[in-house]
Amino acid sequence: MITVKAPGKLYIAGEYAVLEPGHPALIVALDRFITVSLVETQEQGSINSRQYLETDFHWRRNGDRMVFDNRDNPYHYILEAIRIVEALALEMGRSLRVFDLNINSQLEDQGGRKYGLGSSAAVTVATVKALCEFYQLPLNRLDIFKLAAIAHFNVQGNGSLGDIAASVFGGWIAFSTFDKDWLRTVLKNNSFAQIIASDWPGLKIELLKVPHELELLIGWTGSPASTSHLVDRITIAKFAEKQQYQDFLNASRHCVEAMIKGIKEAKLSVVKDGIRLNRQLIKGLGVFSNVAIETPALAELCQIAEDHGGAAKSSGAGGGDCGIVLTDQTVDQARLISDWNRHQITTLPLTVFELTGASV
Ligand code: PMV
Ligand code: MG
Repeated sequence: MITVKAPGKLYIAGEYAVLEPGHPALIVALDRFITVSLVETQEQGSINSRQYLETDFHWRRNGDRMVFDNRDNPYHYILEAIRIVEALALEMGRSLRVFDLNINSQLEDQGGRKYGLGSSAAVTVATVKALCEFYQLPLNRLDIFKLAAIAHFNVQGNGSLGDIAASVFGGWIAFSTFDKDWLRTVLKNNSFAQIIASDWPGLKIELLKVPHELELLIGWTGSPASTSHLVDRITIAKFAEKQQYQDFLNASRHCVEAMIKGIKEAKLSVVKDGIRLNRQLIKGLGVFSNVAIETPALAELCQIAEDHGGAAKSSGAGGGDCGIVLTDQTVDQARLISDWNRHQITTLPLTVFELTGASV
């Protein structure tokens, strides 16, 4: 039996701007995982999961229409990850076999509610890793990133793929996305082996060492949000409000670049100020796009954290899910957390997950 795991993630800064190449985001991997086990079988294979049930189908009503979204269904990511790795395995002369996949996720609560820790990215990465091991494909971390990014891109289509990078590389990363038009074009008439071997224009993944004194606190609002849906709405605003969107991109790039420099120089106050500025920029994006990125619950989460001296903002696409707080020795974390509890904000007791040396 092959067993692999991939961590969940949270965005620290640079959200939305990171959808455009050349605009970095800070992202961390967390010590909650999706585990995939693979057992070879004869004739008939299966995909089983305690959390992701094929019958567990969600939809909403929009007037007379029943609205659902394939991009929220983990099965599509798993199937696409299998398809991509098997195509590469064939190119590399392997013969394809049959297997059972068992998937176990720690990225939801008991009732199956998502925390917003990147389950679609982690399940894609874990499936790619399991299949690469099964077919004995000699790939490094960047290759795994590229395969998982292609699979995720083919299903969701509108993400930066920073969550895939965090899940593959672990720790704190600075991530800038690649040119999606380039990927769309090369996918039409190149082998996967060729695409994996190419330099991807724009792609930048830098592993960062963060000063010890800087700690991360995570607050959960308890209400799940759909990232792909929020990104669609911001994409509409991008065309309607060209100048404001361009100003947002430039300001975000400067802000996150200053934060990266602050991390490298161990200047905590620069990093905390960067969080605060980035929060305002993202709130501004929400206002001119008419999208509720910082919901009232997220605003309260941030306000309480700021009252205790932490630097806080919404994480990821917002609209619910989690907020993050960076703290140093001046912050009394226990009091901050009990204040959160009084306002129905749950702390997720997670830490940043670092990969060790050679493990892929
Ligand atoms: O909501 P999350 O944690 O999946 O983060 C989304 C971050 C965005 O920049 C809004 C989208 C993306 O794919 O980078
Ligand atoms: Mg989210």
